[in-house]
Amino acid sequence: MNTKKDIVQKIISDRVHAPKPFGLGHAKANIALVKYWGKRDNELNLPETNSFSITLPLGTTTNITLANNEDIVVLNGTKIENQDQFYTRLVLFLNYFRPDASTHFKVETTNEIPTSAGLASSASGFAALTLALDSFFSMNLDQKMLSILSRLGSGSASRSIFTGFVEWQKGSNKDGSDSFAEKFSHFWPELRIGLSIISSAKKSIDSRKAMDITRKTSSLWKSWPDQVTHDITQIKKAIIEKDFELFGSTAEHNALAMHATMIAASPTILYWLPESIQMMHRIWDARKKGIPVYFTMDAGPNLKLLFLEKDKSIIEQEFPTIQTLVPPQ
Ligand code: DP6
Repeated sequence: MNTKKDIVQKIISDRVHAPKPFGLGHAKANIALVKYWGKRDNELNLPETNSFSITLPLGTTTNITLANNEDIVVLNGTKIENQDQFYTRLVLFLNYFRPDASTHFKVETTNEIPTSAGLASSASGFAALTLALDSFFSMNLDQKMLSILSRLGSGSASRSIFTGFVEWQKGSNKDGSDSFAEKFSHFWPELRIGLSIISSAKKSIDSRKAMDITRKTSSLWKSWPDQVTHDITQIKKAIIEKDFELFGSTAEHNALAMHATMIAASPTILYWLPESIQMMHRIWDARKKGIPVYFTMDAGPNLKLLFLEKDKSIIEQEFPTIQTLVPPQ
């Protein structure tokens, strides 16, 4: 079996140098337009399908230095307790890079993503940590390797190594050596994302567990890989042809299809709150009125609106509480 530690060591062993005084990394969050939902290997975060995302302007900055007796983790200026899940998940990742048991790290991380934004910070978090480690040990790894290492922290982090539109190739190798993200070479500068926050409470079930239950029990999950293949082809076509209707409808349908696989799981997994459904109806009503707006959703109750700059003022009028983001190219 390939363990994470084996994989990391294989990638970094002949590239690691003595630690510098500090290592700094910064990465942006991303939202999948065609989702990653289901793993063929839980240990290595190897997905069953490709996925396709857009990078957001908000991200995470992480600084690593050496510590004396134990690992220290500081998040937005506050020291995190050793029992905290955030601390354990981070230290587990550091273990793969630790030269020996007596080396300890201080990790100071700042999230530009407010916890209330309803956006996952694990993608930008693990990508920023990987970049900080790369700098700390002067490894100078290429983006493919950085994407593979970030993936071992959290699957979606593999996409946060890049900006713009990004496709994560599922790969087929058992050790995940061909499962990494790549930048899609087309841009759409007029695209906007509207964050609609329904709840910033902690998820009822984390996405890792939800994916696993869905994959094992949902009859609808069987059609999911074909759906993803179709949707990725469509979304790329939409971007190349600047066909916003095809773009929005593909992303929206893909998100709903992902949630349908969860609803069909046993036990049912439903992240939606009544307000999520209300918001869906408001978006559909706006479309009926001729306003081109679509949505996507991840493993939570919040919707992310998709629209173009030309429609920004009408959409902000219809949905006054949204926060509009301009994705970096
Ligand atoms: C619904 O990347 O958080 O946001 O690999 O277990 O860490 P792990 O999962 P994670 O899952 C993200 C799921 C999603 C869809 C997506 O981002 O593609």
